[in-house]
Amino acid sequence: MNFEIVSGDITQQTTAVAVVNLFSGVTSPGGATGAVDSAIGSTISKLIEAGEIKGGASEATLIHTLDHHDNFGPDRVLVAGLGKAKSLDLVAIRNIAAVVARRVRSIGVTEATTILHGAGIGGIDPSDSAEAIVEGSILGTYEFKNYKSSSEDDADQNAGLETLTIIELDPQKASDIRDAVDRSTKMANAEALARDLVNHPPNIMTPTRLAEEAANVAESTPGLKLTILERADAEKMGMGAYLGVAQGSHEPPKIIRLDYVGDPDDADNNLWIIGKGITFDSGGLSLKPSSGMETMKSDMAGGASVIAAAKAIAEIAPKINITALCLATENMPGGGAQRVSDVVQAMNGKFIEVLNTDAEGRLTLADALCYARENGAKRMVDVATLTGGIVVALGKGNSGAFSNDDELVNALISAGDKRGQSFWRLPLDDVAKRQNRSNIADLKNTGGRLAHAITAAHFIGEFAEDTPWVHLDIAATAMSDVDAGILTMGATGVPTRTLVQLALDLAAQNS
Ligand code: BES
Ligand code: MN
Ligand code: ZN
Repeated sequence: MNFEIVSGDITQQTTAVAVVNLFSGVTSPGGATGAVDSAIGSTISKLIEAGEIKGGASEATLIHTLDHHDNFGPDRVLVAGLGKAKSLDLVAIRNIAAVVARRVRSIGVTEATTILHGAGIGGIDPSDSAEAIVEGSILGTYEFKNYKSSSEDDADQNAGLETLTIIELDPQKASDIRDAVDRSTKMANAEALARDLVNHPPNIMTPTRLAEEAANVAESTPGLKLTILERADAEKMGMGAYLGVAQGSHEPPKIIRLDYVGDPDDADNNLWIIGKGITFDSGGLSLKPSSGMETMKSDMAGGASVIAAAKAIAEIAPKINITALCLATENMPGGGAQRVSDVVQAMNGKFIEVLNTDAEGRLTLADALCYARENGAKRMVDVATLTGGIVVALGKGNSGAFSNDDELVNALISAGDKRGQSFWRLPLDDVAKRQNRSNIADLKNTGGRLAHAITAAHFIGEFAEDTPWVHLDIAATAMSDVDAGILTMGATGVPTRTLVQLALDLAAQNS
């Protein structure tokens, strides 16, 4: 999808669709919407009076304007409802942009021109509005059709929105807006890439294929360096926890690492983003029930998001060093699978009693964090579809956040707010921590039913030690069951844009 910024008058554009907007409760539209209304014989006002246009959030009314071509350029007007003026924020604008882009696609049109929602009387910064429009348009029309050889539905054949022109009257603001659009396009495209990686079926998106996808990312992104390490390398490094998970599968495990060096003079100015990369989680010998197992192709969503985020970060090129890391493997119950009650030794020497092979994410992340620290990580964020506990605790409105460092977790939460992705911090209390004590080893990999998401986070925290660290549990937020706003059914790509924003914010702090 391409975005163009034009400073001019929307009534004079020659585009297929002009997108304007209306707050609910407004009876005589002002600003650009008012100007369009005048140019098309007050059709908008008449439809408001008739009750067809109410301005409710996610309402989109299409008006054909061919009769008005003497003083109006576009063939159609799409009036997008903004809802109540006081509840308009960037989340709402992203959703409106998604609704508009889907509507445009449904009528088989590939180009549209839009005004900046909320930038007038709404009081929203024009650049922020533009970013939200870009994110909503790209992510709201995301589709995954790789395995559809034919489509029964004609509307599915539509190309969809190819060029969206954003109108800003003030030419001085246009250049700021151009930068913002460029940045958010990279972020949204990265999040769409993360969705793709997750949506592929697990027989295709094996650890080997995920490594190939990371190689494609590195090849197409100047400034990203790829390193792939093999099982033998993991053995040499003593990654017994990760290898224990991998041993039940015929698919070779792959350690995927992408490096972006944005601050070559200060190696310590770094952030490691570490994603759980279980390309299919059957549970291993602690086999999952068959109902719901099909969702476990998404167990590499954390890995997908860090690989995708690395791409956008390298493209935007902030002054910070970023390493994305994913220890990819399947969790399978093959003949070589680890047993329940096995004891494995992580890279830092800690012994772990494996009391449930389905608690595999924390085992792979244990070695991932050891590797990160050993290789100079100064700040770490891990992203994992880690526990059913977080699904019950927070539902789909927030991802869980856990941390040993107030500053880093607050930076992450605020980065998420900027991108409309919500994180809720949960405690790492000593009571829960004790639940991970093993009778015969340093730790066990299950802390029982109580505070399950917290004990899992504590387990990972044992390997973060004193390095500032945030753990994000995205078990509920990685997938969506519905098309709603910027989310589409299947993978969400969460928290790719937040990770990119965090890198930008940390880089800005430092300079
Ligand atoms: N990948 C799952 C967690 C999960 C659950 C992700 C639901 C997405 C949706 C994880 O590996 C797992 O199996 N966790 C278990 C651990 C338990 C056996 C200690 C859980 O949370 O039930
Ligand atoms: Mn599991
Ligand atoms: Zn898992």
